[in-house]
Amino acid sequence: MVSSSSSHSPDPKILDGKAVAAEIRAEIAQEVDDRTRRGLRPPGLAAVLVGDDPASRVYVGSKTRACAKAGMVSRTVSLPAAILQEELEAKLAELNADPEIHGILVQLPLPGAEDRPAGAPLLDPARALQQVDPEKDVDGFHAVNVGRLWRGEDGFVPATPAGSLELLRRRDIPGTGQRAVVVGRSLIVGKPMAGLLLNQSATVTVCHSRTRDLAAVCRQADILIAAVGRTAMLGPDHIAEGAVVIDVGMNRITDEDELERLFPGDEGRRKTFAKRGSALTGDVDFTAVREKVSAITPVPGGVGPLTVAMVLSNTLKAARRRDGAP
Ligand code: GUN
Repeated sequence: MVSSSSSHSPDPKILDGKAVAAEIRAEIAQEVDDRTRRGLRPPGLAAVLVGDDPASRVYVGSKTRACAKAGMVSRTVSLPAAILQEELEAKLAELNADPEIHGILVQLPLPGAEDRPAGAPLLDPARALQQVDPEKDVDGFHAVNVGRLWRGEDGFVPATPAGSLELLRRRDIPGTGQRAVVVGRSLIVGKPMAGLLLNQSATVTVCHSRTRDLAAVCRQADILIAAVGRTAMLGPDHIAEGAVVIDVGMNRITDEDELERLFPGDEGRRKTFAKRGSALTGDVDFTAVREKVSAITPVPGGVGPLTVAMVLSNTLKAARRRDGAP
């Protein structure tokens, strides 16, 4: 199913997201260069970061650095955690009108009550996201783009599910007629993933915390997408022999015994843990299912790098659309 010739990983089962992301980023850099030679503006991305959540800062940093590397303009708009809803929306209106900026993303989550001054009204993320011009909505969270996805029309698709699909496409794993099970129903991953797979003519089931007999439903899957946010929640009981597994989980564990239990004898991971005091894990028990699957994305190095590449791809698409190109 997976062609080993096109995989850069020593194990052809492992879907190497880093390698596929590098392919995509090289193509984007080439197109950005062509545009600039033709005298067109470089695509510009503004990342709006409210407050100083360290994880959000890391995500925004990796997106803006990747933009710069591809020859794009990137701007981080850092706003105080105490900002008022109206001020945030005024900033978004300013970016909507800025000709240098083609794509805008508002990094989520916005600060909650515990990170805001006492008595300050809560920020409403849903309302803020609707203020982004749908043609600059490179996160694909605006209702117009959600609607376009479900209508099967061209628009902006959230980067993580778009990246997951692109990985399957570039590694010759078609969705047509396949049974796909998506575990998780978030706006950012689960729901758009389901829409994309449906548009690819897969037969799609969406599972969530209230699903009865989750394992039995998951075992129906030819393609299983895990997007629940819990370390090793899905194991061999959830996975049919020969299934393709896309693990969207990005969980951080700080217990070294847990790391050793999940990845026994994995020196590389142990070294990273010793350096950082934590390790990234997916939602799937990788070691326990690896023999059973026909292909699987690792964490890290699977879907994560694709997410960054797709933000760039969406920003380039926004620039193309502004120029009147498809
Ligand atoms: N927070 C977690 N994932 C995402 C994402 O894809 N986009 C934004 N803006 N915030 C996020």
